[in-house]
Amino acid sequence: MYRSHTCGELRETHINQEVTLSGWVQKVRDKGFMVWVDLRDRYGITQLIFDEERTPKQMMETAENLGREFVIQVKGSVIERESKNNNIPTGNIEVLVSEITILNKSKTPPFTIENETDGGDDLRMKYRYLDIRRNPVKESLIFRHKVSIEVRNYLSTQGFIEVETPYLIKSTPEGARDFVVPSRMNEGQFYALPQSPQTFKQLLMVGGMDKYFQIVKCFRDEDLRADRQPEFTQIDCEMAFVEQEDILNVFEGLTRHLLKNIKDVEIGDFPRMTYDEAMRKYGNDKPDIRFGMEFGELNEVAQHKDFKIFNQAELVVGIAVPGAASYTRKQIDALTDWVKRPQVGALGMVYVKCNEDGTFKSSVDKFYDQDDLKKWAEVTGAQAGDLICVLSGPANKTRTQLSALRMELAERLGLRKADEYAPLWVVDFPLLEWDEETERYHAMHHPFTSPKTEDIKLLDTDPGKVRANAYDLVLNGNEIGGGSIRIYDKDLQALMFKHLGFTEEEAKAQFGFLMDAFQYGAPPHGGLAFGFDRLVAILGGQETIRDFIAFPKNNAGRDVMIDAPSKIDDEQLKELNIKLEI
Ligand code: AMO
Repeated sequence: MYRSHTCGELRETHINQEVTLSGWVQKVRDKGFMVWVDLRDRYGITQLIFDEERTPKQMMETAENLGREFVIQVKGSVIERESKNNNIPTGNIEVLVSEITILNKSKTPPFTIENETDGGDDLRMKYRYLDIRRNPVKESLIFRHKVSIEVRNYLSTQGFIEVETPYLIKSTPEGARDFVVPSRMNEGQFYALPQSPQTFKQLLMVGGMDKYFQIVKCFRDEDLRADRQPEFTQIDCEMAFVEQEDILNVFEGLTRHLLKNIKDVEIGDFPRMTYDEAMRKYGNDKPDIRFGMEFGELNEVAQHKDFKIFNQAELVVGIAVPGAASYTRKQIDALTDWVKRPQVGALGMVYVKCNEDGTFKSSVDKFYDQDDLKKWAEVTGAQAGDLICVLSGPANKTRTQLSALRMELAERLGLRKADEYAPLWVVDFPLLEWDEETERYHAMHHPFTSPKTEDIKLLDTDPGKVRANAYDLVLNGNEIGGGSIRIYDKDLQALMFKHLGFTEEEAKAQFGFLMDAFQYGAPPHGGLAFGFDRLVAILGGQETIRDFIAFPKNNAGRDVMIDAPSKIDDEQLKELNIKLEI
């Protein structure tokens, strides 16, 4: 028996008991006549004590020579500690060791394995298995496990069946590039790893599975950010014989269940907003609605004077920043520089200080009088003490820039509170999105999303205006899920492929299996997928998903611990019939 108890378990009630513990040596404090060792495992830390009077000399020496992260087993009796430690649950006791076995030695770890570590990001990624021994990382993984259990419980009680779908498949377009896998047995042919199980879950609906879910890995070769990994996990769902309303209800239920059971937070309403409204009010299709700072469109009240920049702009738009009228010239200059950074790309920023005495002071006083500025304050909802920041230019671009500024200021002002949860459904997304690079329309969600019936007639005349039965769930400014009601009619699906620029042959080659299935009684269906890593991170009060993934990739898509991707040997290439030309 390696252990009778864990290192987080012993209390005063165990005093005088003989116990066996196993774990890692976190710290050795050697006072010569006495040695204390902090022994750690997944459950906590227990202090071991060796002393000259009661411990045989040889064992004393062994204790003195223990290195950090040695794996040891000890037997001993639980005694009351002289100086108690209120910071840990085992702080009232210690174990007086009578037997010690070194199960394994350890090299000195490259960083300290404590809550606050001296290891930088790269080093901790390289030695992730050591990082996982640290509380913050360990706790994040345990937290993830808890969320996944709650998800499974909830969906199972709602009648959903978890079905596994294959990983070696044919491309499922979700807007990113595929990772491909060469097939040895089928020369010159490749599988694609799924960007999502989209087509399979639709086929499961044709198969009559009715309510499907899966906690599933997805693979997307795309540029990485804090909330993106090349392989990530979805809570993927699909339902048959449902309308959008049914799906939103189920996933509102799931979100409520998770917030209640994991965070003990009760959510009131799940407000809904159309995509158009989200873009107009927040310049963003995933607005954080925990704070105001809604956009005020100023064209009508700002384009009647001689200020050319505004007069020539498609959109003049501003936000009221609470309490920021007191910003110094230097602070405002720094904000202006911030919006002019290439990542944001604004050409400049106009500001209006709403003074406490009801007067206004702006950077464009030369053009606008107090009455004009008062109107700006009304439109943006600015109060005395606020600062109005105004950007102008092409509508979409300017909205995106002001949205970036809004989020940055909210962050700086502490308005994005981690313990406040504000979900929002964004609905009625456009069906298609113009892609400048390829100069054609792409499906904004994916090609299987159904257009709104009343908009189908616009497909030929004004495709950009067609709205889809597509929705996203946004939580605190993060897109945590997205889905749609699907096309289940073969002819409508063929029409969609045509509008997406597929020839009939291309559509048949790539998606013939789905169109075929639609000829055998496909039920009306729809679904949604939550980004599981994102959901877990947000419930955990963070936005970086890497911390909640056991073995994540770095920003270049590399696993620096196992050093992947890597070259494969010539023999393997030959077997796969692949010739490299690099
Ligand atoms: P979508 O592409 O919107 O929809 O993906 C669903 C959710 O998955 C998360 N997500 C990611 N998380 C981490 N890293 C990534 N690279 C990444 N990409 C996406 C997001 C997103 O909201 N098949 C459809 C769903 C459906 O229509 O039912 C789909 O995959 O949180």
